Amino acid sequence: MRRKHDVIIACDFPSGQDVFRFLDRLPGEKPFVKIGMELYYAEGPAVVRALKDRGLPVFLDLKLHDIPNTVRRAMASLRDLGVDMTNVHAAGGRKMMAAGLEGLTGPDGTRPLLIAVTQLTSTSQETMNEELRIPGLVQDTVTAYAENAKAAGLDGVVSSPLEAGMIHAACGEGFLTVTPGVRFAGSAQDDQTRVTTPAKARALGSDFIVVGRPITQADDPLAAYRRCCRDFLGTERPSDPSDPSDASGSAGSSGSSGASGSAVE
Ligand code: C5P
Repeated sequence: MRRKHDVIIACDFPSGQDVFRFLDRLPGEKPFVKIGMELYYAEGPAVVRALKDRGLPVFLDLKLHDIPNTVRRAMASLRDLGVDMTNVHAAGGRKMMAAGLEGLTGPDGTRPLLIAVTQLTSTSQETMNEELRIPGLVQDTVTAYAENAKAAGLDGVVSSPLEAGMIHAACGEGFLTVTPGVRFAGSAQDDQTRVTTPAKARALGSDFIVVGRPITQADDPLAAYRRCCRDFLGTERPSDPSDPSDASGSAGSSGSSGASGSAVE
């Protein structure tokens, strides 16, 4: 598939129509987009296919968490959508993650990137200890879950940018960190609590930043997207994965993309 680093736009809109109206405000761009539960449950696979038809890389953020057999079969269904990245909850355990990976892998061995959610950023230290009954520090659970994801063969985890360095130290530089919680310096934090700027996220070791409202709600979304790319990637525009002369198209993982069929090395 793809470049190792990228800006992923969280398209948190209630309908496909809203997403495409937003994308029309980014003329000439082919951003990596994230589709979550809200949109997928409202529109189904059709919205994913429509985004792929536009040539956009898609991160399908459905956070699967069930018994291994169910996750394997669900992932086999998602495989046919040709997304570029999808995810499971690491809390489902190594067997469940490995089953998800198996379901996602096509007969030719290609598959999208599979990453795991460690602890949701909405889970506080107190909630983790008192309600979920997991003792110890959140960051230790995040690291342990990332190690489980790696042992299960996954490509990386979703985490806070502040945890990216710790995860790379435990799981290696090639293990991807996909990090929401990004804001421009001096702008509103909304409901995010632990935020960093795109430049700081890169310095901390994030491989992909997930950015929603700072781009989707901006007066000029194109300028906001380009600013993110400039600050995070050092260029105004990500590399073009469809351009064979673009040497930055590798994603540093052991999987390969079902979308393009090219290796993800
Ligand atoms: O608008 P904003 O930039 O806060 O959007 C961040 C996106 O990342 C949202 O789609 C949110 O659901 C997602 N996310 C998150 N924290 C996590 C996992 C996902 O903010 N731990």
